Amino acid sequence: MKIKSAEFVISNTDYKLCPKETHPEYAFIGRSNVGKSSLINALVNRKNLAKTSGKPGKTQLINHFKINDSWFLVDLPGYGYASTSKTNREMFKEMINKYLLNRKNLICLFVLLDIRHNPQSIDLEFMEKMGQEKIPFVMVFTKSDKISQTQISKNIKLYKTEMLKQWEYLPDMFITSSENQNGISEILKFIEEYNEEFNPTLIQ
Ligand code: GTP
Ligand code: MG
Repeated sequence: MKIKSAEFVISNTDYKLCPKETHPEYAFIGRSNVGKSSLINALVNRKNLAKTSGKPGKTQLINHFKINDSWFLVDLPGYGYASTSKTNREMFKEMINKYLLNRKNLICLFVLLDIRHNPQSIDLEFMEKMGQEKIPFVMVFTKSDKISQTQISKNIKLYKTEMLKQWEYLPDMFITSSENQNGISEILKFIEEYNEEFNPTLIQ
C-alpha cells in the first residue's frame, strides 16, 4: 500500500471523544519505550508524526492519525511504566481499557514486544486478557536491528512456547525494525487486506 497522506487528527483521554467509528482502525500497544510511536512513523514513512523519545512514558494520550484519508492508526500510552505514580498508572490503564473494550471500528490491536527480551509476564498477561475480551490482536516484535538473526529465532521460539501454554492457536507475528524498515511492508499489506473487508454498516 502506498501512503499518500498521514495526518494527526486528535488526542484524547476519553474514548467517547475519539473520531467517529466510520473508518477501520489499528492501535499500537505495549510497554513504554517498546517502539510504538517509532513504528507508526516507520509505517507512514514520516519522521515525527507520532512523538517518540528515548525516555519511557512519552505517549500519554489516545492519539488518532488518519492515513490516506480512509483509515486510522492509533498511538497509545505504554503499559507498565514504573516511574509514573500509581494513581497515574491506574488512570492510563482505565483510559486504555475503556478504549479497547468500546471502540467498535478497532480491527486489530498490534501488541508490541521488544525482541531483545525473553517473554515477560506483563505482556503474556496482557495478551491473555485480550483473548478473554475477544479483542483481535497480532504480535509485533520490535527493534530487530539490535540483535542477530540467531537471537531473534531463539526468542521467537521462546515466545511461541509460552503462548502455546495459554493458546490453542498462535496469533500472527511480525518481526520489525523502525530503524531498517524490516517487516514494515508486511504490516502495511496486512492492514490493506483488512481495510478492503471493512464494512461500516456492520458496526453501527
Ligand atoms: P512510550 O510512548 O513512552 O510508551 O514509548 P514508545 O513505545 O512509543 O517508544 P518510542 O517509539 O518513543 O521509542 C522508544 C525508543 O526506542 C526511542 O529512542 C526510539 O528511537 C527507539 N526505537 C524504537 N524502535 C526502534 C527500532 O526498531 N530500532 C532501534 N534501534 N531503536 C528503536
Ligand atoms: Mg509513544
